[in-house]
Amino acid sequence: MLGMEFSDSRRKPHFLGKVITAVVLTALCIYILKQSPGFGGTSVFSRHDPGVTHVLVTGGAGYIGSHAALRLLKDSYRVTIVDNLSRGNMGAVKVLQELFPEPGRLQFIYADLGDAKAVNKIFAENAFDAVMHFAAVAYVGESTMEPLRYYHNITANTLTVLEAMAAHGVKTLIYSSTCATYGEPKKMPITEVTPQSPINPYGKAKKMAEDIILDFSKRSDMAVMILRYFNVIGSDPEGRLGEAPRPELREHGRISGACFDAALGVIPGLKVKGTDYPTADGTCIRDYIDVTDLVDAHVKALDKAEPKKVGIYNVGTGQGRSVKQFVEACKQATGAKIKVEYLSRRPGDYAEVYSDPAKINHELNWTARYTDLQESLSIAWRWQRSHPNGYGRS
Ligand SMILES: NC(=O)c1ccc[n+]([C@@H]2O[C@H](COP(=O)([O-])OP(=O)(O)OC[C@H]3O[C@@H](n4cnc5c(N)ncnc54)[C@H](O)[C@@H]3O)[C@@H](O)[C@H]2O)c1
Repeated sequence: MLGMEFSDSRRKPHFLGKVITAVVLTALCIYILKQSPGFGGTSVFSRHDPGVTHVLVTGGAGYIGSHAALRLLKDSYRVTIVDNLSRGNMGAVKVLQELFPEPGRLQFIYADLGDAKAVNKIFAENAFDAVMHFAAVAYVGESTMEPLRYYHNITANTLTVLEAMAAHGVKTLIYSSTCATYGEPKKMPITEVTPQSPINPYGKAKKMAEDIILDFSKRSDMAVMILRYFNVIGSDPEGRLGEAPRPELREHGRISGACFDAALGVIPGLKVKGTDYPTADGTCIRDYIDVTDLVDAHVKALDKAEPKKVGIYNVGTGQGRSVKQFVEACKQATGAKIKVEYLSRRPGDYAEVYSDPAKINHELNWTARYTDLQESLSIAWRWQRSHPNGYGRS
């Protein structure tokens, strides 16, 4: 008897230990499940927390979207990135995840915005307060070769996002538009009331998306901000993020990409197309805006967005810079000997394009504070030089 009593009392702590382990393990499982984006209904991302603004950043693995996500996270927003990685980089998302590892700050969802069912599920499972819709294919040249892809990806997908927002009561939209929606205006600078007459499928698809948003907003209490960017350059001044388009997109690339490719020796040099434009030095004039200023405009737009109101803003410096000035700044910023070839005009290029940023200055108290052609290119060059293979390998 004594022996039995003795053995029973020894089993008790053993049994208790098992119960405690089971409880701890169960709690741990529940916690892990709650953190997982697929856990319908109870993830941190699925609830509205007082004082926390949860922003869906579509295209957040891309150039501008990743910089916007970084700024939002720095400003204590909760961020969900949705991207199909067709053009963006998981490496950019990983940088953000390493910078903001705390639960409930950042989640990444791999999804294609062309898949309405998937988009609807994302909205059903997450409590978004606002959407910054960056995701798009965004190369003018490519759009002339694959117009249907552009109308689908830009126009139809924006409709899908808007429908999901309406169905799930998400009340604020910040939309990425472009100066390409203006086409070739006769009068400079371009103001927000300059007539929009786009001349390529990219600009037309963006204008159609704008029109859909504007028509919808007439009958809804959604707060809408449409930002029309000019030519975006630069990267994170702290060197954490950069612009890393897919190599196969080089041929459609932007002027800053060409500058870095020439400096890295990936292409033999820069080709300046047209030296007889009616401008001071005969080359085309564009308005370059640093990505740090651009994302600042987004945060200010989000802050000032009001229900039932639409704000449309040009985001540029108002200062045109010629291609020759750009080439000089590129040479200075990279310190590279860059061969420059002067060629005849390229059809479809217009002489001068620059914005009038007065409206955004006054209404959003925004001004381009970081944009300086040479400095912006120097910062971007530092990232390019230390990441010759983009996010793939440093
Ligand atoms: N870069 C510029 O100079 C510039 C100028 C004016 C406007 N914009 C606009 O800014 C936005 C961002 O441009 P960016 O330069 O960062 O381009 P980007 O190609 O670097 O980023 C776009 C991102 O969207 C994602 N994406 C594309 N289609 C998608 C889909 N169907 N589903 C989910 N994700 C998808 C891509 O994978 C990529 O990560 C675009 O809307 C573009 O039209 C850019």
